[in-house]
Amino acid sequence: MNDVAAGAGRPTGAELRSRIDALAPWFHNIDLDGVATAPNHFLGDYPRDNFVRFAHALPADLSGKSVLDIGCNAGFYSVEMKRRGAARVVGIDSDERYLAQARLATEALGFTGIEFRNLDVYQVAQLGERFDLVIFMGVLYHLRHPLLALDLIREHVAGDLMLFQTMQQGSDEIADVPENHPFFVPGTWTKPTYFDDPAYPKMHFIERRYADDWTNWWAPNRAASAAMLRAAGFQILDNPDPEVFLCRTAPVPFAQFGPAAVYPATGASA
Ligand SMILES: C[S@@+](CC[C@H](N)C(=O)[O-])C[C@H]1O[C@@H](n2cnc3c(N)ncnc32)[C@H](O)[C@@H]1O
Repeated sequence: MNDVAAGAGRPTGAELRSRIDALAPWFHNIDLDGVATAPNHFLGDYPRDNFVRFAHALPADLSGKSVLDIGCNAGFYSVEMKRRGAARVVGIDSDERYLAQARLATEALGFTGIEFRNLDVYQVAQLGERFDLVIFMGVLYHLRHPLLALDLIREHVAGDLMLFQTMQQGSDEIADVPENHPFFVPGTWTKPTYFDDPAYPKMHFIERRYADDWTNWWAPNRAASAAMLRAAGFQILDNPDPEVFLCRTAPVPFAQFGPAAVYPATGASA
């Protein structure tokens, strides 16, 4: 059941418009009962236009489930998961301006039971809890350490499903990579050519700005997105859109040999 507060006291009309405008610019266009947060968004009705392409991949009924929305922005996905009946939704973002938008959106829609917190993805251990569904959409390519973020999510908060999206560049083809990679073509001193295959997992590093945004650091191709998810311990259940993957937690490859990387694994905030 959705936790929706009674209508009285919710901001509407001119008051709502003025509070929306005071928090502009909005990256999420959310329909607040007839008042749109970003009606002139440069990507159209964003992110709803995208969501309709892969919404079917998620469980229609999230009754009793907990959801963590990482990089929640103004809370579009948090609200949608609440609409599917999630018992508990936590949205985290490292930008307080977006969290203020998320709080206004849920207040105007009357949704209770959604908690928004200022938390960096690298700090998810502080949540001290695993969630039935993690949403990690549109954040990976903004990170300087993307695989670290996936490792931390897998280690600390992923309890079952994860909906993942990243901006991608390059080929959408996925190469059949070898189980092992010799330095040279066997019997020669010639370097193998599989790295030159556009369908080989590749992360394009963006040193300068991309689309006028200096926070875009990486653009994987589709094969690299899939490979990184697997390497972090996620099984890919569905890939309903080239950039969108529905995953389930799985054993972390090579875990029997010890940690793959050294990083702060505790929830200590100091
Ligand atoms: C492109 S928006 C994606 C928003 C939303 N998840 C979606 O798919 O529409 C990226 C969001 O991630 C947040 N973000 C960026 N780096 C982050 C980090 N290190 N930890 C948490 N959130 C981060 C940004 O503040 C922004 O709200």
